[in-house]
Amino acid sequence: MDLYGKDLITTQDWRKEWLDEVLALAKDMKKHRYEEPYTEILKYKTFFMFFYNPSVRTRQSFEAAATELGGHAQFLEPKAMRLKSKDKAGETIEDAASIMSRYGVGLGIRILEDAVERYGDGEALLREYAKYASIPIVSMAHDKYHPCQGLADLMGLQEHMGDVKGKKIAMMWGYSSMVRSWSSVQEDILLLPRYGMNFTLAYPEGFDLDPGVVETAKKNAEKAGAEFEITQSALQYKDWRFTSELNNLTNKAYFIHPMPVDRGNEVDDEVASGPRSIIYDIGENRLHAQKAIMALTMARGWK
Ligand code: CP
Repeated sequence: MDLYGKDLITTQDWRKEWLDEVLALAKDMKKHRYEEPYTEILKYKTFFMFFYNPSVRTRQSFEAAATELGGHAQFLEPKAMRLKSKDKAGETIEDAASIMSRYGVGLGIRILEDAVERYGDGEALLREYAKYASIPIVSMAHDKYHPCQGLADLMGLQEHMGDVKGKKIAMMWGYSSMVRSWSSVQEDILLLPRYGMNFTLAYPEGFDLDPGVVETAKKNAEKAGAEFEITQSALQYKDWRFTSELNNLTNKAYFIHPMPVDRGNEVDDEVASGPRSIIYDIGENRLHAQKAIMALTMARGWK
């Protein structure tokens, strides 16, 4: 199958067999990290990255990914460019997207949290870039979705559990002292049920996700024969922190988190650094998943 030129704004836009192709390639790239035929796939090519918000993993993993594929990832902050915004005259998305398409092979965009005025603005911006660019647009996390994180999560779960069909995942979502968007949790509630995972989403009142995304997640689960439930039981999820006591109630669950972890508020240190925590494996998988996405969508005729 030919994924060349495809945008990745959410995994929901992609067929499951395309995602399978990414995961299979990412796993092989992880095994043969610095070996042929993987080292020159993007030789002399540039991947542009527009970061409206800060990042640790996303920026570094995309830069490392481009380097390991033989190319270069160019970090750009929109505040250092003359881009049009609501209250500022400047270059339009049509012009910026068209020009980037003449220079590079792909464009990643991160826009979320305090960089968006209203929920959905980031999603709209990515879709508009996708409309005008002739190179793939990749979400590096926006206000609605985080496809690269979703794929890294799934890859990590498969590595540790094998086939995830019929396995249970409970995901907590609640208050954090750090500003958080819904992007990672909304990506996971869409993606993991497509692979047959029985999903329980737990959050306190007032922390509802996008109802349209939740509806789609339920449909994905139904189609895959999986269960999807939402609970707001504060008795079950005391103070919305994943404590060691809660962890002991699980059947030796793996602990996952997109990071950065708000240790001591969202989760106890003993859990985040415990023997069942796979947060660093998943963080590493960002690199391999993104290498696979870049190879398949940005290198013409490579596969
Ligand atoms: N998970 C994730 O996107 O991490 P960063 O915000 O550090 O990029």
